[in-house]
Amino acid sequence: MSEKIIGAAKPRIDGPLKLTGRAKYSSDNNLDGMVHAYGVFSTIARGEITNIDTRVAKQSPGVIDIFHHNHFPALYHTPSSMAQENKVDEVRLPFEDNHVYYAGQFVALVVADTFENARAAAYKVKVDYQESSAIANLDQAVERGGTQMHEKANHTRGNPEQAYQDAAHTIDATYVTPVETHNPMEMHATVAAWNGDRLTMYDTTQGVVNARNVYAKVFGIAPDRVEVLTPFLGSGFGGKLWPWPHAIAAAAAAREVGRPVQLVVPRQEMFTTTGHRPETRQRLRLGTDEDGRLLSVRHETISTTSTVDQVGTYVESCGKMTQGLYTCDNLSVTHATTRANRGTPTSMRAPGAAPGMFALESAMDEMAHQLGMDPLEFRRRNYADSDESKGLPWSSNHIRDAYDQAADRFGWDQRNPKVGSMRDGNEIIGWGMASCNWEALRRACDARVSLRADGTAFASCATQDIGTGTYTIVAQAVSDVTGVPLDKIEVELGDSSYPSGPISGGSWATATTLPAIAEAGRKAIEVLKTYAAMESGSFPDAKLEDLRYENGQLSNGAGRSMPFAEVLKARQLASADGEAHTEGAPTDTYAFRSFGAHFVEVRWDPGISNLRVTRVVSAIDVGRAINELTSRNQVEGAIVMGIGMARFEQTEYDHRDARPVNNNYAEYLVPVHADQPEIDVILLDYPDFKFNEFGARGIGEIGITGLPAAVANAVHHATGKRIRDLPITMDKLMDI
Ligand code: MOS
Repeated sequence: MSEKIIGAAKPRIDGPLKLTGRAKYSSDNNLDGMVHAYGVFSTIARGEITNIDTRVAKQSPGVIDIFHHNHFPALYHTPSSMAQENKVDEVRLPFEDNHVYYAGQFVALVVADTFENARAAAYKVKVDYQESSAIANLDQAVERGGTQMHEKANHTRGNPEQAYQDAAHTIDATYVTPVETHNPMEMHATVAAWNGDRLTMYDTTQGVVNARNVYAKVFGIAPDRVEVLTPFLGSGFGGKLWPWPHAIAAAAAAREVGRPVQLVVPRQEMFTTTGHRPETRQRLRLGTDEDGRLLSVRHETISTTSTVDQVGTYVESCGKMTQGLYTCDNLSVTHATTRANRGTPTSMRAPGAAPGMFALESAMDEMAHQLGMDPLEFRRRNYADSDESKGLPWSSNHIRDAYDQAADRFGWDQRNPKVGSMRDGNEIIGWGMASCNWEALRRACDARVSLRADGTAFASCATQDIGTGTYTIVAQAVSDVTGVPLDKIEVELGDSSYPSGPISGGSWATATTLPAIAEAGRKAIEVLKTYAAMESGSFPDAKLEDLRYENGQLSNGAGRSMPFAEVLKARQLASADGEAHTEGAPTDTYAFRSFGAHFVEVRWDPGISNLRVTRVVSAIDVGRAINELTSRNQVEGAIVMGIGMARFEQTEYDHRDARPVNNNYAEYLVPVHADQPEIDVILLDYPDFKFNEFGARGIGEIGITGLPAAVANAVHHATGKRIRDLPITMDKLMDI
């Protein structure tokens, strides 16, 4: 069984629910007596509220109450600890005081009988401000407030400064990446309902357990009194990892008005109050010997953060991959933040690595160009056969095979290295490549699996499927262990009352959840055996150790076998249940990382200034892919998002008042179908059994790492222009 189901290309088991509209997303919940909340959002980015006039708004039809800093219940802060699983990014409570830290901050909340009435009334709330001069971007922030170093995120070995002085070739370049905003199709939404002191939250979250713990802390109640439900999520990309102020505001309002409250964050405020990838400025200095061996690497990052986060400043860890991807004795990575008047940033798909590897892999290309060396050869020459930042061997690293396979499929050996030399009619063709890299993480996890009297199996875990296929791969793991076919397996996720599972983030849900599921399945089988061997059981004379379970059948090794359902029925038992706890991956034996390579073709038509990404070939080494379809889908999606990062995405703020100016789908560009090239994903299959029994390292994020650099490198190959600030818009390529 195991050979077939693990790694198989199985369509999503929740597909029919989604296609028929029966999959319920948070804002699909319309509870009895439910009312609607709509925010009033700050129009200034920094200052104080001097007055809130709600008189006219209160007369508006259907209005029940209007909350603001002078009219809001006292709540508690969450400690905001990731280890304790009660993390938020913006620790400040909604309406905690009259301070304004960013444009788009909630300054009031209208509750009314309908969404339309709440929104209409919200526009009538009059807010007066005392406005201060806001800090709009990274440059202003550095100039006005300086930077704060984060030593814990830094790493140094050897003497990179001296080695740089001694190097035969050097590169010193600064790369800039803009704010990017998570734009999942499903908007952030919460439906909050109280029943006495019990809180139920239908919530858009990538972590029901963390969210549950946060709400328990904020309302000062036991976590067992809170239930967070996210059976389906219309994706999150990191923006829905940790609760934002709207969810707390909705829950507080629901308690105050004594009715369930639904609050949907409008799309434009998803650009302000629910996180973003911060702006970065990264200086890369590389030094090599005559033969292109790296002697010195320095990667210095400054990223923006907000002025509102008081605990656990968000740091964009751009140097994390740099410290171990290539061999180099003399290396340092540093991370500093600077504060701007924006909402608090947060993780966005491959946080740190996505912008960090744009800088590193661009600099590597610049150095290869200077050396007159093929960029692929330059990377091969600097292959690291261990993680030098940790002094640990890799559990498994097949990046050289990724280089080989992707280069071969792409036809890299046909590349003419001369800039602008490859042409097709009016178009100039550019070929570029980059490595990709992401840390593999695995956390502790609990899970439950049941074998049931109707012949089905059931699995539950308080993790969630954020659109990536978690339901399906959990079912595959259950099937692998129990022999029950997929269509007879029911999986329930996204409910905080189930055994505690991981956030869907960091690409660690698969590697974390599946071992716990498998262990729970094996325990259920052991429990089944105890039932069978009991006096009134199906195998009363058998010793436990003689009983064998295989492909859904229990046998006594003496020629008699029986389906597990019959064993249960014989004793009129509903199910045999196994619960398991599995630990995270050890941190002191191996360095666990995933690897890969992207090869990109762009076409530049200088006559009409048109740039297109026309071909991507990527080889990805993530250990074993549990499901060929959903895995490929994850990498393809990440590549598309990488094209967005390379070419389009950029949240812009008015430099005068720090207000976002393109906080909508019309002006914040994301790739559309017309921007999709041919994408060819090669999934290498080197199961990493040092990491877990399935050999899987997780796949959600690695595909975006390196992709923007591969595009930029291809653009340089076509045009001779080195674009060091994303996105690569056409104006940057025009000779004007
Ligand atoms: Mo991911 S940025 O950890 O959702």
